[in-house]
Amino acid sequence: MTRAAKGGAFCSALPALYVDKLCKTFLPNGRTVRALDGLSLEAGAGSVTAVVGKSGCGKTTLLKCIAGLERPDSGTLRFSGSRIGMVFQDPRLLPWLTVAGNLALALPDRNDPLLEETLALVGLEGWGGAYPRQLSGGMAQRASLARCLCRKPDLLLLDEPLSALDSFTRSRLRGELERICRGRTVILVTHDIEEAVYLGDRVVYMNGGTIQSEFAVTLNRPRDYRDGAFQTICAGIERDTERNTDTERNMVQDTDTVQNTERGSE
Ligand SMILES: Nc1ncnc2c1ncn2[C@@H]1O[C@H](COP(=O)(O)OP(=O)(O)O)[C@@H](O)[C@H]1O
Ligand SMILES: [Mg+2]
Repeated sequence: MTRAAKGGAFCSALPALYVDKLCKTFLPNGRTVRALDGLSLEAGAGSVTAVVGKSGCGKTTLLKCIAGLERPDSGTLRFSGSRIGMVFQDPRLLPWLTVAGNLALALPDRNDPLLEETLALVGLEGWGGAYPRQLSGGMAQRASLARCLCRKPDLLLLDEPLSALDSFTRSRLRGELERICRGRTVILVTHDIEEAVYLGDRVVYMNGGTIQSEFAVTLNRPRDYRDGAFQTICAGIERDTERNTDTERNMVQDTDTVQNTERGSE
């Protein structure tokens, strides 16, 4: 099934995710912020796309538009499947429910064996009865991921899921995330280039609300940070993104200026 960005028409299509000329503008305090500026992106089924870019370049807005949490101003957005799952930087667990209770929110049947299976998948076997306050940051983020996976999403959107964690937990969870992402269609936002190369089948670089460059990562999995080829790819991406970051590009403009250049919707 596919969802149109505007209007909600459904039809079949490949690739799994198709985004074309997506625009989204915010108007905080009478200023216009062009968060997405004609962004286009395609993702194949079962592929992991890692999105990197400086803070404020529109990464979260892109994921929110894909998830239907923000409505794009214009552009086309289609995905093959019916369910999208999104994991945020913070776990967003309901504190008055146990871990199992939080996961059960995503399941029609609380006794569905999928609940225990998913807890085991994220390494939280036996923790279903614990409350969020009893979990470490890493465990809470695993629980959040498990809640998302319980919905059996056709498309998994991960918005800096590891960035709030300490570096030890983070590097351990990266390995687990790599295993969990395998075979799924995933859009992963991270500001960490090594993490992007570790997890992604490709890395796309966002700047000023659009995709500026794209890098395929064909290294065998699981990947090794210390590997020379791995480091060469990271250094290449870093060099390229530094060179192409248009620091003068100002996404905040006077409303009048933007209205004159506004694009029409499809
Ligand atoms: N709800 C909102 N209202 C006003 N401005 C917003 C809103 N959401 C995002 N923005 C602005 O849009 C731009 C892109 O934000 P965001 O997508 O969160 O960037 P990123 O995730 O890359 O850091 C930023 O300038 C941000 O301030
Ligand atoms: Mg963000």
